Amino acid sequence: MRELISKPAVATPAAERPRRLRANPALRDLVRETRLDPRQLIAPLFVINGRAQRQEISSLKGYHRLTPDLALREAHRFAELGIGGVLLFGIPETKDAEGSGADDPRGPVPETLRLLRREGLPLALAADVCLCEYTSHGHCGVLDGEKIDNDASLPRLASAAVAYAEAGADIIGPSAMMDGQVAALRASLDGAGFTGTAAMAYSSKHASCFYGPFREAAGSTPRFGDRKSYQMDPANVREAMREMDLDAGEGADILMVKPAITSLDLLAQARQRFDLSLAAYQVSGEAAMIEAAAEKGWVDRRRAILETLTAIVRAGAGIVITYFAADTATWLREDR
Ligand code: PBG
Repeated sequence: MRELISKPAVATPAAERPRRLRANPALRDLVRETRLDPRQLIAPLFVINGRAQRQEISSLKGYHRLTPDLALREAHRFAELGIGGVLLFGIPETKDAEGSGADDPRGPVPETLRLLRREGLPLALAADVCLCEYTSHGHCGVLDGEKIDNDASLPRLASAAVAYAEAGADIIGPSAMMDGQVAALRASLDGAGFTGTAAMAYSSKHASCFYGPFREAAGSTPRFGDRKSYQMDPANVREAMREMDLDAGEGADILMVKPAITSLDLLAQARQRFDLSLAAYQVSGEAAMIEAAAEKGWVDRRRAILETLTAIVRAGAGIVITYFAADTATWLREDR
């Protein structure tokens, strides 16, 4: 005899029944705690100089580099869908060591901003401020030998921010992860009279593998080394809070984390700790993972997108930058 097999006990009925409120779609809708709204979404846009040109970006499905006239057309579509804003990234015709194209008032970002501003669309106009799209070496700052020179990069970044504010940006997004960049940009903006231009700081920006498709889009893969001497180690949470504290102290209006899905705990902590607006960037590699799995039939594309965006908002993001902004806005409208 090994052991006594007891008869199943008479089950006590459940005392708590959370399933009551899951019984039908109306009940589930009623108690849903997190709702997505197209107005909280920002769509990235990659812009180039010229007219009537679109270049495919093979690793970012449905995305193209657009000339300002076509970017304007795309912005119209976003506005009609009720999307909150656009975030511009420029890809210049030529790159050099200093990233001279970054603050060129004739560069693709200022050209597009002027066009969008003139159109008066109900979109927040944001522009990423970094040197990596404009430098021949692909790093986010200027170099001193093979080192990234923090303080020499600040005036270059500040000058780009002023050029974008002049062209009509509502928000500038310093993303180079140079120490003191928010303060430097804020001082230059204020000095040039752009006290009303907001700063969305890429505060907790990880040295992540998930920027791969973006780097193809922007041609910004570093020619040597990596970005670990300036972007954050994804392992660190206290350091992320410190970065956010510093950016808040330097005058950031919005704090951002990226990638999004690997930073949910950071969002949740930041939501407790700061009263500033919080943003999360669902980056190109996160989008690519969903696209690739959906293409294989391994996940349902629409549900994967809505589920990840909902989790990002649930964790604490009020603003989400996502390549799926147009799709999501379309679905949210259908679901009404
Ligand atoms: C830097 C910048 C990057 C992204 C946004 N701003 C690239 C990088 O740091 O290498 C990545 C966004 C994405 O992957 O979608 N200018």
